Amino acid sequence: MNERQLKKSKSKEKGKERRTALKAERARLAAAQLLVNQANAMPDPLSKFPFFNKYERNGLSCTLICKRVKDLDPDMLEWAIDLCKQNMQPLYEKSTQGWHENEKREEMMEDAAWYLMAIDTTSEKAVAFSHFRFDMDYGDEVLYCYELQLEADCRNKGLGKFMMQVLELMAFSNQMHKVVLTVFKHNPDGMAFFTKCKYEIDETSPEDTYEGSYDYNILSKLNKMKPTQKTSL
Ligand SMILES: CC(C)(COP(=O)(O)OP(=O)(O)OC[C@H]1O[C@@H](n2cnc3c(N)ncnc32)[C@H](O)[C@@H]1OP(=O)(O)O)[C@@H](O)C(=O)NCCC(=O)NCCS
Repeated sequence: MNERQLKKSKSKEKGKERRTALKAERARLAAAQLLVNQANAMPDPLSKFPFFNKYERNGLSCTLICKRVKDLDPDMLEWAIDLCKQNMQPLYEKSTQGWHENEKREEMMEDAAWYLMAIDTTSEKAVAFSHFRFDMDYGDEVLYCYELQLEADCRNKGLGKFMMQVLELMAFSNQMHKVVLTVFKHNPDGMAFFTKCKYEIDETSPEDTYEGSYDYNILSKLNKMKPTQKTSL
């Protein structure tokens, strides 16, 4: 084989490798999307875990329920939107994004939204919630925690950590690759809490450069039972 023929054969080989890798990546994405669809099709992802629908510790007694936004009691949804405003408006106002109430309301009411609610067993009032979604994120199947919000008098009693554990249980039992969330850098309490819950900076978290900086971190916890299958495309 002369040099020209050798070059041609090498480039043919490379093309073949690339097509094989593309095919594998397409198959991986389709499989990931299928897992997301299956998780979203469940009537109640918490029903498989009867030991996790009660939290009775440190003076709190709560029942946990999990519902899609369309099945949530409208008053409970309004309470969640209000609590989110109370807890988050000052932090958003300090951020480059600013606070946009209607956008937040719309986000919390989108069809894809799921809610994990903690309801006080005596008053029957909601005291904490997480808005989360089963979704694709940068090509990975994930449970994305959009919000975790507790009423002030229920904090520091282990409920937040318990609710994160419930989200992880629902994520990993449905073969999600990781649990992901965004937290403002100027929310030191939130950062300390998620660090305590063993969340780490995610590979998709934007890095500060000399051109600009970001006022949030993307954190995640990986599903240890699921090895990364991403191709090198
Ligand atoms: C952040 C928040 C969800 C934490 O929930 P919580 O129920 O108060 O936290 P927990 O009691 O479960 O704490 C779990 C662990 O984190 C630690 N922790 C919680 N807040 C902390 C803080 N500000 N600094 C240091 N550690 C903290 C606790 O000491 C505990 O540690 P342990 O497991 O060793 O006992 C809750 O305080 C809240 O709703 N804050 C307002 C809204 C918010 O900031 N949400 C998160 C950003 S999206």
